[in-house]
Amino acid sequence: MYDSGRSFDTNSVGFHQTWVPVALGVEVEAGKPLGTDILGTRVVAYRDAAGKPVVQTAWCPHLGADLSVGQIVGGQIRCPYHHWRFDAGGRCTHIPTGDKIPPGARIFSFPTAEKWGLVWAFNGSEPLFPPPEIPDAAEAELAIESRLRGTRNLPPWVATSNGIDFQHLRTLHNLAASDPDTIEITGHSIEYRIETERYLQHGRITGTNVFAQHLRRDGSDLFMLFAGAPIDRDSSRGFFTIGVYKGGDGAAERRRVEGQLAAARSFTLKLLDEDAPVLNSMRFRPGVMVASDRYLSRFFKYVREFPTAAVP
Ligand code: FES
Ligand SMILES: [Fe+2]
Repeated sequence: MYDSGRSFDTNSVGFHQTWVPVALGVEVEAGKPLGTDILGTRVVAYRDAAGKPVVQTAWCPHLGADLSVGQIVGGQIRCPYHHWRFDAGGRCTHIPTGDKIPPGARIFSFPTAEKWGLVWAFNGSEPLFPPPEIPDAAEAELAIESRLRGTRNLPPWVATSNGIDFQHLRTLHNLAASDPDTIEITGHSIEYRIETERYLQHGRITGTNVFAQHLRRDGSDLFMLFAGAPIDRDSSRGFFTIGVYKGGDGAAERRRVEGQLAAARSFTLKLLDEDAPVLNSMRFRPGVMVASDRYLSRFFKYVREFPTAAVP
């Protein structure tokens, strides 16, 4: 039988309308623009005068110079070529020649957030839902560590599907994981909880590209968030954050936090290492599915129905 090979995105425009990780928060330094490729375009990220991250399309509306090689002047991005300046809303505020500023002299400003050690941009003019959360924890309660995972020739939601692929937890990761009895699906999230006497897994997918979970194993709590940004139709860049409950003051508490973070880090890196040979080489296509794939199939339906938009 010949397969049509229909891609998930054949009929869609642009990319899923979700919160996309742009960079690590520490990479977006004051006074210094950072350029990166996401959502099929180039964006510039920087901090405004108050330190709040700004993410905008990077192609200058004048002649198309890359604004990320420009300068920050008074909290605004200045094009390196003819020094047009743009405010945090994307409006051109200054043209050095004194010419009248044309109405089309604008760049697109993404809704942004800074959370879990990452700078996020929403793919749309208004966010359709709040930035991703990690189950059972507020950011202020956790000591966190965030890192770049790397790039991969897959759309981000293929890696996100790991969060609901309970079969692979047993086969690939060799974990004693069971399936949840139910999953809860909204238009923009999927959530589940598996609890036994010695084990808790509370997982949540936000959008199509973020999976976060609270794990309790042998009485110890750890938190993880995996987030992917589409670079173009075929590739993505991944980040992850790990966290443990913050301690009080004192050397013993600091040691406890350090020890738990180290354990969380090695467990997370082990999971990523186990996934890597598969996710780095697969040619994703949902093929023959079996009854045990029911949640996975549900996730693929959720992905197919997710709203999409193209960056202006
Ligand atoms: S190309 Fe940006 S100001 Fe001319
Ligand atoms: Fe995995």
